[in-house]
Amino acid sequence: MRVLILGIDGYLGWALALRLVRRGHEVFGVDNFFTRKAVAEVGSDSALPILSMQDRIRAVEEVFGARIEFMEGDVTDYSVVKKAITRFRPDAIVHFAEQRSAPYSMIDVEHARYTMINNLTSTLNVVYAVKELDRRIHILKMGTLGEYGYPAFRIPESAFVEAVIEGVRDRIVVPRWAGSWYHWSKVFDSYVLLYANKLWGLTITDFHQGPVYGTRTEDIISEELFTRFDVDDVWGTVINRFCAEAVVNHPLTIYGSGLQKKGFTSLEDTVRALAALIENPPEDGEFRTVHHYREVRTLNEMAELVRKASREVLGYEPEIMHLPNPRVEPEDDLPYEPERKVLAKLGIYGLTRTMDEEIAVMLRDLKPYADRIRKIEALFKPRVRWRS
Ligand SMILES: NC(=O)c1ccc[n+]([C@@H]2O[C@H](COP(=O)([O-])OP(=O)(O)OC[C@H]3O[C@@H](n4cnc5c(N)ncnc54)[C@H](O)[C@@H]3O)[C@@H](O)[C@H]2O)c1
Repeated sequence: MRVLILGIDGYLGWALALRLVRRGHEVFGVDNFFTRKAVAEVGSDSALPILSMQDRIRAVEEVFGARIEFMEGDVTDYSVVKKAITRFRPDAIVHFAEQRSAPYSMIDVEHARYTMINNLTSTLNVVYAVKELDRRIHILKMGTLGEYGYPAFRIPESAFVEAVIEGVRDRIVVPRWAGSWYHWSKVFDSYVLLYANKLWGLTITDFHQGPVYGTRTEDIISEELFTRFDVDDVWGTVINRFCAEAVVNHPLTIYGSGLQKKGFTSLEDTVRALAALIENPPEDGEFRTVHHYREVRTLNEMAELVRKASREVLGYEPEIMHLPNPRVEPEDDLPYEPERKVLAKLGIYGLTRTMDEEIAVMLRDLKPYADRIRKIEALFKPRVRWRS
């Protein structure tokens, strides 16, 4: 298949590009390098070194003998999206090209506005360009499980749900209650996609995941193929940050009580799921909602797992430190089990590695880069507060 990845330079985009190339697909990419610049803006850097896009493409050619075609551009510019579709003629577009940090979106009004405009405009451009140029293209859009919040009901894996309101039964869009401007931008994205499907019959997968963790996939077989790996307070997702903290023997920083639950998935299992969804598209004109997480754990449980793995891999146990939670989020031990059946039907459930195994791999991968991590060690503590 011909697959266009918007946001190919990112953590997931690059890892997926490698997987698709190795599975024999033709891969094209667009990126404006926003994340590289925005991570530098908060004084940070990827903990694992990453090459320039030009060198990445050269490395893929040398290692796998395959060519990735790349176009630098901003997908909030409609002409860029149209040009990419016209040039690459994709069967599927994977849309990752968004501002993806919740803390970044909460810095101030400029960052909130940037997040809303970047994320919503890019999604709007993708649906309009597909409608205008080729309605057969499957759009796979990366959303987040964080769109829903933590409702008392089990979150259904569908766009609509039956509800009874004041005694009247109706079909409504599954309710959402997000926890940052970033997450709200993802909620609005989902409405844009759903409405584009209703208007023009576009074929769409709205894919929702919780936080991803991991330094590598089976395709990342050398340093030159590394994908970015962020660990600071603004850009780092929680397990990735804990592992970086462990490597420099910094206390593992839990924001809040640590009872917050998340549905975690490794990078390897994420690219597996994405490849399966691309290779098994929905029916023409179908809107498919997909939930993906492998294990629901509390932050306290995750910190314990990292501490235990550190003892084995690094020979010491870092402390665990609770800091006041900068976020406004429930900190109780709530039931959390969003429905997930679509990927199971595609037969790809089953962990590639257990969490303990994956964390041990991460610690081993990060250890040689302890000096790089020490340079950003001051950024493990949260600087952005939701209510300040
Ligand atoms: N990493 C996670 O844990 C996680 C979990 C759930 C959902 N997601 C979603 O998956 C997607 C990819 O996440 P990631 O972790 O790879 O993020 P990332 O920031 O590493 O990658 C996003 C890429 O998109 C690019 N980009 C952003 N705006 C752009 C624009 N206007 N034009 C062109 N390129 C642009 C960035 O430069 C970056 O390379 C995001 O939409 C994110 O919200 C990520």
